[in-house]
Amino acid sequence: MSNIGSYDERIKDFSWALSEKELEYRDGDVINIGWYCSDRICQQGNGDKPALIWEGLGGVEKRYTFNDVRLASNTIGHFLRGLGISAEDRVCLFMDKIPELYLGFLGVLKIGAIAQPLFSAFGDESLYVRLENARTKAIITQRKHVGKVRKIVEKMPWLEHIIIVDHDGKKELKERETVFSLENADPVEQFEIHPTTAESPSVLHYTSGTTGQPKGVKHVHYSLISQYLTARWVLDLQDGDIYWCTADPGWVTGTSYGIIGPWSLGITQCVLDTGFSPDSWYKFIQKNRVTVWYSAPTAIRSLMKAGSEKVKEYDLSSLRHLASVGEPLNAEAVIWSEKVFGRPFLDTYWQTETGSMMLTNFPGMKVKPGSMGKPFPGIIATVVDVDTFEPIAEPGKVGLIAFKPGWPAMMRTYWNNEETYNSKFINGWYLPGDRAHIDNEGYFWFTGRDDDVINTGGHLVSPFEVESALLEHEAVAESAVVAKPDEVNMEVVKAFVTLKPGFEPGPDLELKIMNFIRKKLSPLAMPQEIEYVDNLPKTRSGKIMRRLLHAREWGEEIGDTSTLEDDE
Ligand code: WTA
Repeated sequence: MSNIGSYDERIKDFSWALSEKELEYRDGDVINIGWYCSDRICQQGNGDKPALIWEGLGGVEKRYTFNDVRLASNTIGHFLRGLGISAEDRVCLFMDKIPELYLGFLGVLKIGAIAQPLFSAFGDESLYVRLENARTKAIITQRKHVGKVRKIVEKMPWLEHIIIVDHDGKKELKERETVFSLENADPVEQFEIHPTTAESPSVLHYTSGTTGQPKGVKHVHYSLISQYLTARWVLDLQDGDIYWCTADPGWVTGTSYGIIGPWSLGITQCVLDTGFSPDSWYKFIQKNRVTVWYSAPTAIRSLMKAGSEKVKEYDLSSLRHLASVGEPLNAEAVIWSEKVFGRPFLDTYWQTETGSMMLTNFPGMKVKPGSMGKPFPGIIATVVDVDTFEPIAEPGKVGLIAFKPGWPAMMRTYWNNEETYNSKFINGWYLPGDRAHIDNEGYFWFTGRDDDVINTGGHLVSPFEVESALLEHEAVAESAVVAKPDEVNMEVVKAFVTLKPGFEPGPDLELKIMNFIRKKLSPLAMPQEIEYVDNLPKTRSGKIMRRLLHAREWGEEIGDTSTLEDDE
């Protein structure tokens, strides 16, 4: 029996207030995610239950019980407090998927500070713009990544502490650097958790838009209600489960469902901190007897490419429930997974901004391969007309996805950018910026984004950011960045560039430019192809028209080209 039972029954009398009561979320007014995910589980008598099974390179394994998580997060919180970090200060977590990332996340929340997780694959430029925007006070990182922080530290007078969690004492520490070792620190048994309340800020996740720098999505401790309930009803997490969320906590999936969702339910989860390969993934599932697996379409497509025979080399019979997020999950992937794993990947749709799942397929519900499913109970969702923003009654007609604001995990604002935040609401609807249609049974079908953001392997890349970085390369005069179709990643980054006089187009230069972006931004933002052009299509006032280049890449009708001359 699944946790949700019948979807139709659940939505009938659902209310967030009722759920809040059920979850015993409140202790007076005080609510704290760090406490909820560790101390509370111990108080329920589950302190000895495994919370985290971690595997790193070379098969190294570390295990933590819920009591270990409680102590470790206390210890990290205590250390941070000792450095003078207090409520609402931003603390960046800039690490691989090592245990300190997961434990540190809760430690930061326990002192009421704001956790700012960033991908460790980010280059110095990507790191800088996000730390600058948040005026981050401390960054927790590893030896192997500290070089990137050092490169920009002079420009960041507000960054007071650079905490290295794996310093081996061999190299000298530089200015503002300090060492913390979880293994050597005295465990802190009694810890005064900061009395955060529902609206206290918790997590700041950065996400890319079409224009401008990335936006800091501000979440609050109250988000827990949505994360707990979606993890329970959609991921169907149950007491004996071994859960694996493949996402990195630099991405919202890795925090909402790679930390908060499972641990708020006292569920054992495992983490694999090595690169992707079908063999290593299947081996990991087999070894840990994973029961619930939350992953992403790009990974699933890569597994499909490796073939059905590969699946048979492993015993994956422990799997009982699979779900996916981040990009359109094609019907073939759903059908294939049912064939080879005995159950389909259930698609879930949501965003950094929404904080928790919005449209989903539920256990027990009829799955229509290729559809994102239906709204989670308590979520009022529709599609609205692109011009009038009025709900579309007609089944099958494409419009903008729209949600009625009011669910607990919704972002509270974009950090220092209230204007952009406000622009997301029209006619009383929150518009996530995607298009879809709804069929006659109420299922949502994704048709595309409503902006130029590139979704590569589930990661959003801003064309603006890549274009800005390209302009910093000595050879590039102008650039336009668009998505190019890709079999596995769905989309990859492609750049059109015009060169400055004196530079010769060619493969050598292409490689140099690619590497330049990889180092500055990240491997994901790196263009997979650079096309040299003499001119870029522009509006009369000189605005580059990505739309035209995009259409060409996708073999689409270019449509109205009158705007080629005019400003839109
Ligand atoms: C896209 C991810 C199609 C969409 C948790 C959304 C999807 C953006 C799906 C958010 C899905 C996410 N089908 N598209 N099931 N899930 N997307 O903020 O464009 O990194 O707006 O959060 O990914 O990406 P984000």
